[in-house]
Amino acid sequence: LITEVRLRRILDSRGNPTVEAEVRTESGGFGRAAAPSGASTGEYEAIERPAVESIATAREIAVPRLEGQVYAGDQRGVDSALRAADGTDDFSEIGANSAVAISMAAAKAAADVLGAPLYQHLGGAFRGRDFPVPLGNVIGGGEHAADSTHIQEFLAAPVGAPSVADAVFANAQVHGEVSDILADRGVSAAKGDEGAWAPSIDDATAFEIMGEAVESVADEVGFEIGFGLDVAGAELYEDGAYHYGDESKTPDEQVDYIAELVDEYGLVYVEDPLDEDDYDGFAELTERVGSRTLICGDDLFVTNTERLARGIESNAANSILIKPNQIGTLSDTFDAIELAVRNGYDPVVSHRSGETEDTTIAHLAVATDAPFIKTGTVGGERTAKLNELIRIEANA
Ligand code: PGA
Ligand code: ZN
Repeated sequence: LITEVRLRRILDSRGNPTVEAEVRTESGGFGRAAAPSGASTGEYEAIERPAVESIATAREIAVPRLEGQVYAGDQRGVDSALRAADGTDDFSEIGANSAVAISMAAAKAAADVLGAPLYQHLGGAFRGRDFPVPLGNVIGGGEHAADSTHIQEFLAAPVGAPSVADAVFANAQVHGEVSDILADRGVSAAKGDEGAWAPSIDDATAFEIMGEAVESVADEVGFEIGFGLDVAGAELYEDGAYHYGDESKTPDEQVDYIAELVDEYGLVYVEDPLDEDDYDGFAELTERVGSRTLICGDDLFVTNTERLARGIESNAANSILIKPNQIGTLSDTFDAIELAVRNGYDPVVSHRSGETEDTTIAHLAVATDAPFIKTGTVGGERTAKLNELIRIEANA
């Protein structure tokens, strides 16, 4: 039985306050988890409230429904208590930040009671034995860095790596190779919010550099490394067109452009190629290139089963990004993953641009046999997850 839920403000990687939750149980279980935070957030995400307000409201209306009331191991019970306390569809009362922190902390407390690692508690005895391939953000711009590429993320995808550890080190090598190539070209680069290089180059140059970097590292390590994108199309879309600085594309031109990129660079992954309301455009692109690449909905689906169901019905994509804080609880997150898998959609478990040292998503990806995890390449809040994956693999 949950005896205590504590909430506090801690720092995230951007230096903003975020919510950390601690859950304690009668049998001595303890779990701690923190909410991440997005910058290029989808319009249909659950609501993040300012940390202080979220904590105050959660203490007042959610914590009394948990302490002495629900078992930490009853994840559905914990999460429905959070939903009942909040009373809205989008957690706009207590905030998805407090909700997700409590939901994840309860899962960790339950795992602690069992003496099992979190992935084992969440995944159970019949979990598969495959590990997720990490997608590594190595060049980025958009909402994550000023004066860099229009496309938000260029992601290394070490699809041929024999192990998670090999994949993690390969991504770091690509990150280093990109830095060397930029230096050779006399381009200086700071890093964006997720640790990717954020040079002042145009998107065409970024494609060139990515192609060169992944080829060179693949030669060195001896396995296949492809690359992919998070276009974050909703951030480019305004007044009926996609804006790339002075140039703009109609929605039809955007579909053509992405399809050409998939063919030219053999892209293995394309996230949010179009606006978050354009199910039809997604469906057209998926029809054209979906057999060769993953078309993934992030802002399109926001880890929401209703939006995913609509996507499945209209053949909008073949993959869904999974971010627990977009929907607010682990139960809702599992529902989205289950609906995706049942319909042939690949779930890609993901960090946010604002992160903490919390490693829950590494366990979530392993527990659900997700084929991919997107959690950066370098920087402490990113390596926390990557190093946890290495440990899970080593001890599994
Ligand atoms: P965000 O970006 O966390 O800033 O929303 C990540 C993404 O768009 O995938
Ligand atoms: Zn995205």
